[in-house]
This record gives sequence, C-alpha cells and structure tokens, in this order.
Amino acid sequence: MEDRLVSNGFRSQDDEQEYSLRPKTLAEYIGQSKIKQSLGVYMKAASARGEPLDHMLLYGPPGLGKTTLANIVASEMGHSIRITSGPAIERPGDLASILTNLNQGDVLFIDEIHRLSHAVEEVLYPAMEDYALDIMIGKGPSARSVRLDLPRFTLIGATTRAGMLTGPLRDRFGMSFRLELYTPEELALIIERSAQILKISCEKGGALEIARRSRGTPRIANRFIKRVRDYAQVQASGVITAEVAIEALRMQEVDDLGLDRTDRSMLTVMINKFGGGPVGLETLAATTGEDAGTIEDVYEPYLMQLGFIMRTPRGRVCTHLAYRHLGLSVPESAANPEQIKLDV
Ligand code: ADE
Repeated sequence: MEDRLVSNGFRSQDDEQEYSLRPKTLAEYIGQSKIKQSLGVYMKAASARGEPLDHMLLYGPPGLGKTTLANIVASEMGHSIRITSGPAIERPGDLASILTNLNQGDVLFIDEIHRLSHAVEEVLYPAMEDYALDIMIGKGPSARSVRLDLPRFTLIGATTRAGMLTGPLRDRFGMSFRLELYTPEELALIIERSAQILKISCEKGGALEIARRSRGTPRIANRFIKRVRDYAQVQASGVITAEVAIEALRMQEVDDLGLDRTDRSMLTVMINKFGGGPVGLETLAATTGEDAGTIEDVYEPYLMQLGFIMRTPRGRVCTHLAYRHLGLSVPESAANPEQIKLDV
C-alpha cells in the first residue's frame, strides 16, 4: 500500500509540501460544510464564555483532513496543539507527562485513538472528565491515590474506526463528527487552491479531471497534482489541461474513476473467485494479500461510494456497476443495490 499513488497514507517526501497546502483557517477549508458550520458555532460560544472547547471525536476514512481540522481549531481558539497518536503513547506515564505539560486551553490531538491501550485509556478518563490525574503513591497496603489538577484542555481524538472505540471513551467526547468523502467539485476547488500555492498553471477542466480520479480524498488530489505537473512539464506545455491530466493519470494506471491496479484486482478477485460475493472481509484479505483493516479503511469507502461493492450481513458483494466498469458482462445473479437494500 505504501507505493500506491492512490494510497491515502502519508508519504514522507510529500509531507512538508502537503503541510503548506493545508488550510490554516476554517474559512479557507473547503468542503465538510456541516462540520464547519457546527464547529464555527461551538468555537465562538466557547470563546465568548472564555472556556476551552469540549472534547471532540473526528472519524472517517484517512486523508480527509482530521489533523488539518484539529490544527485549525487550535489556531482559531488561539492556543497551541500537541500532536500524538494512540500507538505512540505506550505507558500511562507517557500520557501523564503529555498532560502535565499542556497549558490551559491547549489542544491535545490523538490520532488513531482507537489504538490506545486499556491502561492508558484509564488515565484519560478522569483527565477528560475532571481535568485530573490520579497517581498511585506507594505499594501494597499503604498505597494511596493522589489527585493532581490538570489545565483545562481540549482533546481531539481521530480515528478511521469509530466502531473500535470503547463505550466509556466514546461517551466522554462532547461532540463527534464524521468526515465524508469530498465531491469532485469540492476537490476541484482544493486542487485549484493547491495549484495557486504551488505556482502550477492548472485549467478548470484539468482540475476537474484530477478531482474525478482522487477518490473523494484531498490528500490524493494534492499528490496527483504534483505528478500531473511533472507530466505537463515534460510532455506538454507545462499547463495542466483536461487532456494532460487524463493522460498523466492513465500513465500511472489510474482509471477514469480513480481506481488503480489494486482496486481493480480486488474487484476481479471478488468476481472471478467468489462469483461476485458475498465474501467475508477476512477471506478477501487472505486472497488478495491485503490487510483486512486496509481494505476496510482505504479501499472500501470509495468502492462503496461508487456503488461498486456493498456490505451485506453475509459479506461483501460486487454490484452490476462493478462488472460494467471492468467491461465484463453482467450475470443475472449480480447484486442490484435496490434489491439488496430490500433483503437486508
Ligand atoms: N487541502 C487539503 N484539504 C483541504 C480542504 N479541505 N480545504 C482546502 N484545502 C485543502
């Protein structure tokens, strides 16, 4: 997955540039309009009361701007942000040290928060609820617990899997936002904005062709624009036109809908080896050699948005749209989204 042009994990060489492409204010942030509207209201209200913002959970597929939103919240509230992740906080002491080093109003951003260990989560509960840290002093019968006050901070947790959060942790977030895949029109605006920042000449038509192939994901759109620029520079006049965008991405084996070789091979496996499904996630993972979590987080959201696959109680199924896209004849038995909805 690391080498996929459409992978939505971070790539180190693009990190720095990607950071500069990130919007710094809510007004600059394109898309996710419902979240923006709610956040705007909550931030204004908290600021007016002189209080830190309530703890917030952001969830949804990778690459949609969870970290960006957290940065925006901190800067618009006029505070600092401390960024860490679930797996990086190994022991309760690690979290205690992070918490005691925060200032009043700071944002603590924990990415992949579903991967916190149980022991660390236990420290987080009183910190979130009462801004307190319970420390055990001594051992055995004389051990006693001492409560330390913490600065009032805002926890922003991010996850691709809201379902993997424990109930007690989920309940302690005052608000929870699900980030949605972006529309091609929103992505085209993001691409035009990035083109301006990177001083790339990009026509509207070119931006839209890149957008259509970016799987609803700004991180992918911003990666594509750089590769299309390389192609435009070497094979064309340096301007990203619709034709240049189409050719450049075709060269990368990204098709008209943004599917790459791995997506297409996943659909082909489902069709050729499992008659189009239903097939269980673990079976699909074992057959394609992909990690089950990666299939669930990275491949499926977009394939489902396209209506190419569906999750049913008996497993994943390919719909007739997937057969058509791959240029295969559609068997009678192919799933029809309308019927499946009735079955479930
Ligand atoms: N760059 C990456 N994501 C963005 C967004 N949502 N709005 C504007 N620019 C972006």
